[in-house]
Amino acid sequence: MKTPYPGDPDEISDLTFERYRDYINPGAAALLKFGGLEYPDWQGDGCIVTDVAGNEFIDCVAGYGVFSLGHRHPEVIGAVKRQLDLITLKTHYFLSIELGKLGEELARISPGRLQYSFLCNSGTEAVEGALKAARIHTRRKKVISTLNGFHGKTFGSLSASGRDVYKKDFEPLLEGFSSVPFGDVSAIERTLDDQTAAVIVEVVQGEGGVNVAPKGYLAAVRGITRQAGALLIVDEVRTALGRTGRMFGCEHDGVEPDLLTMAKALGGGVMPVAAFMGTPEIWESLFGTNPYLHSTTFGGNPLACAAAVAAIETTEKLNLPKRSAELGQHMLERLKSLQATHPEQIRDVRGLGLLAGVEFTSDDAAKLAIAACARNGLLVAYSLNNPLVIRIEPPLIMDRELLDKAMDVFGQSVDEALSLVSGMAGAQA
Ligand SMILES: Cc1ncc(COP(=O)(O)O)c(C=O)c1O
Repeated sequence: MKTPYPGDPDEISDLTFERYRDYINPGAAALLKFGGLEYPDWQGDGCIVTDVAGNEFIDCVAGYGVFSLGHRHPEVIGAVKRQLDLITLKTHYFLSIELGKLGEELARISPGRLQYSFLCNSGTEAVEGALKAARIHTRRKKVISTLNGFHGKTFGSLSASGRDVYKKDFEPLLEGFSSVPFGDVSAIERTLDDQTAAVIVEVVQGEGGVNVAPKGYLAAVRGITRQAGALLIVDEVRTALGRTGRMFGCEHDGVEPDLLTMAKALGGGVMPVAAFMGTPEIWESLFGTNPYLHSTTFGGNPLACAAAVAAIETTEKLNLPKRSAELGQHMLERLKSLQATHPEQIRDVRGLGLLAGVEFTSDDAAKLAIAACARNGLLVAYSLNNPLVIRIEPPLIMDRELLDKAMDVFGQSVDEALSLVSGMAGAQA
């Protein structure tokens, strides 16, 4: 049920903008305003976000994959509310019932011999933990990642991320990291040596512009790393829990990683929760001599774990991986027919499950299309490592009717943006 904002929307909008400008991030404030969103958001309900002026938006950003279950899913909200009345954060003194339960659930649903989990609060922390685990287990230093990959913005995960603009001002980053083109098996073969601790790779490069791993790529990387005594880290921060049409994206290739990271959807859209998982041997290397060699204050707290257990249960109960595969196919078909009407301006449409990318031939067109979508009541995303690509990642609970409506609005917004771009080109000529 929507609750009207109890005040003047214009006043709160101006005040919030000024607070961002003065206390948070002036550039981000200006950019969000330029993006076509005049008012702050106020409420989220299922697949719809409402701003303080009562404008409704179909959410096809889903918090970059956080809201796979939509906003405020009642099962997750219920679990967190129950937990709020019991114990909230970790005492660090007792064993936690909720953490134990979540560990068992994650082992049950994850592929292969992944059994142990370390719970933390964000994707980048999960990646940091996996990188540390790979180094201690192999006693090697080198890490191979992929160009345009994205693994987070703390020093370790940033070292593995594949776009210089986010890295160069913070150098020196970690030693021993190198990047190879995504999807290129022979580049990994050429780079990997007896000092390589791990290869870290996404199933779909989300921020890289929705680059889907070619069929067989992950399986080949699995084979090469195993042979060389290096570990395979699959980063599923964005793709875990059904986003690509399988519970975990690496299942498309039948791959069993040594280390697996996840975040975003794991908190059910209610709590920030992340994890990295590993095999018993890796856990022995990481924690065998000192159970606190890697630790966190907030990670794995009861509220977060209650949310994650409910998120997993709900994902399974609603059969969301299957739904994501089916609806994703439909979404891709709709986007491909849009591409057919603008073959000069839309270079490519690609995706896996409910994660799709539309690649334009100019980043002006992409930016204007995102702004037009927002004006027309649809949220779609900019890709951090590839500004030509608009990312569309709806909640997995979205029904076909609403998805069709979103596709209609997307098509209309792209038309508007492209006629603006051709008008601008005409004026310059
Ligand atoms: C694949 C992947 N790994 C890691 C991260 C970093 O996650 P966080 O922003 O929670 O630190 C992201 C964030 O988008 C991601 O997409």
